[in-house]
Amino acid sequence: LERRVAVSRGSEFVVVANRLPVDRIVGPNGEPAWRRSPGGLVSAIAPVMRRRHGTWIGWTGAPDERLDPFEEDGMSLVPIEQSAREVELYYEGFSNATLWPLYHDVVAPPVYDRAMWDAYVRVNERFAEAAARVASEGAIVWVQDYQLQLVPSMLRKLRPDLRIGFFLHIPFPPLELFWQMPWRRQILEGLLGADLVGFQLPGAAANFVRLCRRLLDARYVKQDVYWDDRVVRARAFPISVDVGELNDLVSREDVVERAQEIRADLGDATVLLGVDRLDYTKGITQRLQAFGELFEDGDLKPGQAVMVQIATPSRERVEQYQLLREEIEQQVGRINGEYGEIGFPVVHYLHSSYDRAELTALYLAADVMVVTPLRDGMNLVAKEYVACRRDMRGALVLSEFAGAAAELKRGAFQVNPYDIDGLKGTLLAALDAEPAEQARRMRSMRRRVIEHDVDRWAREFLSELENPARPEAVPQAP
Ligand code: ADP
Ligand code: F6P
Repeated sequence: LERRVAVSRGSEFVVVANRLPVDRIVGPNGEPAWRRSPGGLVSAIAPVMRRRHGTWIGWTGAPDERLDPFEEDGMSLVPIEQSAREVELYYEGFSNATLWPLYHDVVAPPVYDRAMWDAYVRVNERFAEAAARVASEGAIVWVQDYQLQLVPSMLRKLRPDLRIGFFLHIPFPPLELFWQMPWRRQILEGLLGADLVGFQLPGAAANFVRLCRRLLDARYVKQDVYWDDRVVRARAFPISVDVGELNDLVSREDVVERAQEIRADLGDATVLLGVDRLDYTKGITQRLQAFGELFEDGDLKPGQAVMVQIATPSRERVEQYQLLREEIEQQVGRINGEYGEIGFPVVHYLHSSYDRAELTALYLAADVMVVTPLRDGMNLVAKEYVACRRDMRGALVLSEFAGAAAELKRGAFQVNPYDIDGLKGTLLAALDAEPAEQARRMRSMRRRVIEHDVDRWAREFLSELENPARPEAVPQAP
């Protein structure tokens, strides 16, 4: 690989995330190639890294792959190996069959397995050791997400000189749910190795502080936790999108033409769009059920409305994801079987990954963006749609259970995805919204997203990490 570079042992800014921003794949002629990794974390952190020239430590997405550090798309990447067994126990297991459902309101039952926990500890150690090797004296190390919650305290032991931040991209559950976790104490102590622990919403930071008090008997003042002779600050930083990148994309002639082409292919129908990783937290089955029932009830006629559902392949070896895929595909088949006509299915279901230009064209082609998670840390798709609609057209249907609802509540058509009748009514209201109402709602959402883009999110987190405000008062012993 000519792009290979020696990453010096002196990075002043290091991001540690389970995944690198690119995935190892096999190219069309069997050659190894790279593709952008799925998910909101990569969408948010990649632009920040490009601008700050930091080093990104992560996994390539393929088992048993040992690679030297290399440069890609303006970022220095340090690959971390995971064996096939570790992928099964640490990534598919403890990260995505234990923590993921537990932190998302237990919408699927979490698996508690000691071998998975042991693998989680081992892989977290590997990430912490790599960060300790790469970071320069006094560097900033920013650890990302639920897969690496033990890294902050492991890294602090290895390198007490570092300034360590942690950001959780997904929800942090209330005490009543977190209490189930057999290794709850270790996880909390792992996070407390950071100087600053960031969450999407203030409620999540409050959950964390409450747990520190109840589980560890830690002293605290507001959202400052006193632990191990240090102050650990818990704060909310709602993540956002790269508005500049999306602006450039919507200005491109080829993107606008592609949007027109998509619309032409879909006939005269009003277009509803869903874009999600194929994940049981995203409420895809609820959305399809509501849409199908609108035809059954006669509120919509075939040819009048069409739904495009993009479902990005995700965690395909985890059982719950396999079950969900079967369910969705059956549901799509049933709805199209009942209401579709030759050449005109009512649901276009695409199980694939797309580049940013194609996604942007889809956002521009959609009249109604449907975002209905049962629980979601933030949901960047909702913000991307808003950022792309400079034309002030389109409507956003948004679940109350997405983190984004806190910021977009005035402009979005809010919905409880568990309430199928409510969802049907809201879809109809969004489909019927007049251009003036669409514009009024879109303007208010755009103001928020444009003022609070991903750069601001990163700036606010890093400035709180680098220049902490003094604690307000020293707490008394409990
Ligand atoms: P999550 O992090 O749970 O996947 P988000 O909505 O926060 O959910 O982020 C998803 C990100 O992945 C968005 O930036 C979105 O544009 C991107 N994305 C989703 N589906 C696809 C797809 N099929 N192809 C490419 N990118 C996708
Ligand atoms: O925050 C959402 C998130 O889980 C990220 O941590 C993750 O990188 C992304 O979605 C995609 O998931 P995965 O890495 O399991 O494919």
